[in-house]
Amino acid sequence: MRMAVFGTGYLGATHAASMAELGHEVLGIDVDEAKIARLAKGEVPFFEPGLPEILRRHVDSGLLRFTTDYSEAAEFADLFFIGVGTPQRKGDFAADTTYVEAVVTELAPRLTRSAVIVGKSTVPVGTAQRLQEAADRLTPEGVRLEVVWNPEFLREGYAVKDTLEPDRVVVGVANPDAEPTFGRERLLEAYEPILSAGLTDEQREAGETATPLIITDLATAELVKVSANAFLATKISFINAVSEVCEAAGADVTVLADAIGMDKRIGRRFLGAGLGFGGGCLPKDIRAFMARAGELGADQALTFLREVDAINMRRREKMVQLAVDTMGGSLIGSSVAVLGAAFKPDSDDVRDSPALNIAGMLSLKGAQAVVFDPQALENSRRLYPTLGYADSALGACEGADLVIIATEWKEFVALDPREVAAVARGRIVLDGRNCLPRERWEDAGFEYRALGRGR
Ligand code: UDX
Repeated sequence: MRMAVFGTGYLGATHAASMAELGHEVLGIDVDEAKIARLAKGEVPFFEPGLPEILRRHVDSGLLRFTTDYSEAAEFADLFFIGVGTPQRKGDFAADTTYVEAVVTELAPRLTRSAVIVGKSTVPVGTAQRLQEAADRLTPEGVRLEVVWNPEFLREGYAVKDTLEPDRVVVGVANPDAEPTFGRERLLEAYEPILSAGLTDEQREAGETATPLIITDLATAELVKVSANAFLATKISFINAVSEVCEAAGADVTVLADAIGMDKRIGRRFLGAGLGFGGGCLPKDIRAFMARAGELGADQALTFLREVDAINMRRREKMVQLAVDTMGGSLIGSSVAVLGAAFKPDSDDVRDSPALNIAGMLSLKGAQAVVFDPQALENSRRLYPTLGYADSALGACEGADLVIIATEWKEFVALDPREVAAVARGRIVLDGRNCLPRERWEDAGFEYRALGRGR
């Protein structure tokens, strides 16, 4: 099939390359000419494991092309995915849907035959319906542009796998009980290789799918995405709140998380206590969810998310406070190695990164913070040009009074504490992600401290 993907960030570029991997002819579109030029050469402008390989393969095979030209896109395809960003609006909590709207207003008048818009971006509930109204207004006489919603659940670091092997496929359509429309059929046809992977002909004929498929209305599909992210954020903040109590009571939150996580109803995943969540999704999505609920008159329903947000932001301050305490009440003149800058490992994304946030706060308190990250240094330098940077983990630890693990990269977990001890000035390590082998560090002479571990 021929399809186009608007937006070539973590979501759009991954989706475009993954659709080519399924055998489709794909055109990626972005307004950023520099980004398009790199992608067209087969280069991924950000770090995402596994993506460079499939991108290059399909740029070379000719299945995947990139352009900044909307008219070319309108001519090329009849299935258009939206994967542009919906950042937090300046000055308030709501999501900025300008880029999503721009796709429809630019594309609709250029169409010469009926087509489908598939929204993948995370949007406030009601957006899809509004886009449908805009599409109806803007398409030429006799041309129908149908809007369907297909939220994306991919995690950075696992984006290709999450796209090609999703836990479920959710498709929102205007009327889920009616006969399948052109839009619904085209989208399911595009996902056929995912939906029926490994099925026998009989299973396929019986309408079974290999990946669970949920067809629902537009509003539910939009809400599925923000609800999933709000739940994950709540789970992380729950364990971080309990972590605060553990600190006060002298208990160990990691053992507690293991124990409650063994209950199948709870599960251990996303009970990792530490510096909390950051990134381009969870923080902004819970805020946008609250803002949208407020607009709908259901603000009371989500006031707890304010607390989820507050608990999360408090982690960063608590970490800085722990650093101050372990340094005897002041950081002035001290040198602190901050290992990690990305908001999570296997990513170079520093949007709302707890790691960089604490590095900034440490330096405000008079410490000399020296940051190292295996992938995110370039992005960090752009955002925080005044922080100190090193080009290796041991380099950052050189002369450090204090070492903080802020992102749980495997490389940091595997660090040999004796090598750190050989270059550092002090013998204190703060484990911001509860990821280090504690005994090893203690055996090497370090004082090991972490949030939520009173012992
Ligand atoms: C998230 C959702 O998981 C994904 O489904 C959605 O499509 C986009 O938002 P992502 O932002 O890539 O994905 O990261 P995720 O792996 O969910 O981690 C989010 C943040 O939570 C990171 O900062 C991570 O360090 C933190 N986290 C995660 C914890 O603090 N503890 C945990 O136990 C798990």
